[in-house]
Amino acid sequence: MSTIAESFAALFGHAPDGHFAAPGRVNLIGEHTDYNDGYVLPFAIDRVARIAVKIHHSAEARTLRVASTMGGDVIEADLGTLAAEDVTPWARYVAGVFWAFGQKGFTLPGADILLDSTVPIGAGLSSSAAIECAVALALNEMLRLGLSREELVLLCQNAENNFVGAPTGTLDQSASLLSTADHALFLDCRTRESRQVNLPLEAENLQILVIDTRVSHAHDSGGYKELVEACTLGARELGVPALRDVSPERLPEAKQLLHPDIYRRVRHIVTENQRVLDTIERLDANGPAAIGDLLLASHASMRDDFGISCEELDLAVDAAMAAGALGARMTGGGFGGSAIALVESSQAQAVSERVLKDFAEAGYTTPEIFSVVPGPGAQRL
Ligand code: GLA
Repeated sequence: MSTIAESFAALFGHAPDGHFAAPGRVNLIGEHTDYNDGYVLPFAIDRVARIAVKIHHSAEARTLRVASTMGGDVIEADLGTLAAEDVTPWARYVAGVFWAFGQKGFTLPGADILLDSTVPIGAGLSSSAAIECAVALALNEMLRLGLSREELVLLCQNAENNFVGAPTGTLDQSASLLSTADHALFLDCRTRESRQVNLPLEAENLQILVIDTRVSHAHDSGGYKELVEACTLGARELGVPALRDVSPERLPEAKQLLHPDIYRRVRHIVTENQRVLDTIERLDANGPAAIGDLLLASHASMRDDFGISCEELDLAVDAAMAAGALGARMTGGGFGGSAIALVESSQAQAVSERVLKDFAEAGYTTPEIFSVVPGPGAQRL
C-alpha cells in the first residue's frame, strides 16, 4: 500500500478506489498571451499533484471531504450548496472543479479526496492548476462523464475564474492535461489547436533549471487582473477582438493611438506571440540549443514592457547568463515565482552556484534551484 493510500484509510476510514496525478508546468515562452487569444509553449514538469479518491455511491450524502498530506483539517463541503467562501482557500481548487461540473449540468455524488503534491506552492509552476486537473480527470474517468481533455481544460478554467476568482487564461490547465513527455505543447489559445513540439533536452545534453526565487505571487489579487484589463482596453482601442489580431507591423500605429502604459503592454503581447512562433521554428529546425536569445528577449519584454518582473527574477536571469546559460527568463504569471535557465548540462552546476552566490550577496532569500524534464500530462496511476 502506498503512503497516500495508508493516510487516506487512516483519515476517512476506508480505502480509496482511484489514484490520479497531474503535473505542474513551466512555460518555455508565450507569457500572458493566453487570455489575448495568442500562442503559448509550455511543458508539463516532473512535479505533480497526486490525489487518492473514493466516490460515494450512496445517494444519502452529497458531501465532499478533502484533506491534504501537507497538514490541516479535513475540509467538508455540501455539494448542494457549494460556495467558495465556505471552503478554505487551497481546497477551492478541488471544490471548484465539482462546482464547474455542476455548471455543466452534472449532479455529482459526494467524494473523499486526499491530496499530495510535489509542485512547489506559489512558485509560478501551476500548483493550483495541477490540483484542478487531477480532480477533473479523476471525476471524468471514475464517473465515466465522457468529457474530452480539451473540455476538461475549459472546465478547470471555469473553476479557476468563477469559483476561485482568478481571471486566468488556459495556459496552465492545457499544459497539465494535454502535454506529453519529451515535448512542449504549442497551443493556439484562440482556435484551441495544439501540436506536440519535440524538446529533446537530454539527448542534446541540455537542462532547464528552475530558479524559484521564493518571492510568492497570487493571481486572485489585483496585479494580474489589471494586466488583463489593460490588454482588453488596448484591443478595444485598436478595434480588434483580441491583441492576437495585432501584427508587429501595426505597432507604430498603435504607439500613436494608445496611452504609453497601454502601448507597452500591447507591445509585449504582440512581440511575445511572434517569439513563440520563432521559437517553434528554431526548435523544429535546430533544436533547443538555438532558442536562448528568444528566451532572453522574452524576459526583457516582461521586465521593460509588461512590467511583471521583480529584482529577484532579474537577478536570477542575469546571474544565470553571466555563468554561461544559453538563455533565461521568468516563467508564469510574474510578480515573483520562478525563472528558468536553459543550460548545457556541463554548466548546470556553475549556473546554480552563481545564482546562489549572487542572491546571497544581494541579501535575498536563498532560491530553490532544480532541473525539470518535460513529463507526461495528467494520468490515472
Ligand atoms: C498564470 C495564469 C495563466 C497565464 C500565465 C501568464 O500562470 O494562470 O493563465 O496567463 O499566468 O502567461
